[in-house]
Amino acid sequence: MRILFTGGSGKAGRHAVAYLRDQGHRVLNLDLVPAGIEGVADRIADITDAGQVYDVMSSYLWFDELDLGTGVPKFDAVVHFAAVPRLLLTSDNECYRVNTLGTYNVIDAALKMGVRKIVFASSETTYGVCFADGERKPDYIPVDEDQDVVPEDSYAMSKVVNEVTARSFQRRTGADIYGLRINNVIEPHEYKQDFPAYIANPDMRRRNIFAYIDARDLGHMVDCCLKTDGLGFEIFNVSNEDHSIAMTTQEIIDRYYVDVPLTREMGEHETFYSNAKAKELVGFAPKHRWRMYLDDPTVA
Ligand SMILES: NC(=O)c1ccc[n+]([C@@H]2O[C@H](COP(=O)([O-])OP(=O)(O)OC[C@H]3O[C@@H](n4cnc5c(N)ncnc54)[C@H](O)[C@@H]3O)[C@@H](O)[C@H]2O)c1
Repeated sequence: MRILFTGGSGKAGRHAVAYLRDQGHRVLNLDLVPAGIEGVADRIADITDAGQVYDVMSSYLWFDELDLGTGVPKFDAVVHFAAVPRLLLTSDNECYRVNTLGTYNVIDAALKMGVRKIVFASSETTYGVCFADGERKPDYIPVDEDQDVVPEDSYAMSKVVNEVTARSFQRRTGADIYGLRINNVIEPHEYKQDFPAYIANPDMRRRNIFAYIDARDLGHMVDCCLKTDGLGFEIFNVSNEDHSIAMTTQEIIDRYYVDVPLTREMGEHETFYSNAKAKELVGFAPKHRWRMYLDDPTVA
């Protein structure tokens, strides 16, 4: 597919872009800074500027497309990751402005240019646990996509608003628009760097509902969404199969979730951030587990 990817220079985007390239897709990365990924063209543009978004959306991807002599080809899909990726980076209102306006511009331009598949990054933070003031627990575990989303911070608010925006655009156009409530993204080098501390101090993972998503598996999830047509508007949790700490499901429940309703039996290491819907509807099959990447087997 010919894909416009926004935010491909970022932490999650660069892995997803490389994954999509390796699957044979042709990718143009729209970002404020170049990614410099081999085989992937960069275009510097600001998603909050509708004119720039429309321009890139209707642009040649690379010089070789000039040789066709048939005008500018259309994008088959848009993957939208560009954002201010959390609170406490910019002012709250700037985070909200960039994320909501940018997402409106990207989806609006894509649909008006005839794109029929859009995948966009939402966030685990929509559930309100991650950036709550003090401790807030899930309404029930495992957390699935039916759980209410009433977050307290501007970043997560912007992601909830983006889901509503996307849903309305889908209603008008009938295109496929899939939103990914991505859990905490882990790059390959971060297993050795960060997981020993998580294992020693499980409290560090409470705000992520003890889950994580490998950046390469996130790329796979995006590809699954690109390959699956006809779902209309859907929201998917995206996480790996296991917890990001060495405790078992029961041990975590006993320490953190005794008062949280458990809706079904769970596996010994099964994530509390349910990825069942992604597996069922788009064939998501994450490959990576943190235990594969630590030298010390005693922590596994
Ligand atoms: N990293 C995580 O753990 C995580 C978890 C859940 C959701 N997400 C979401 O996934 C997406 C990617 O996150 P990330 O961690 O890679 O963040 P990142 O900050 O590393 O990457 C975001 C990219 O967007 C670009 N960008 C920002 N504002 C832009 C603008 N106005 N115009 C064009 N490009 C702009 C940045 O230059 C950057 O390259 C975001 O939408 C984020 O909210 C991330």
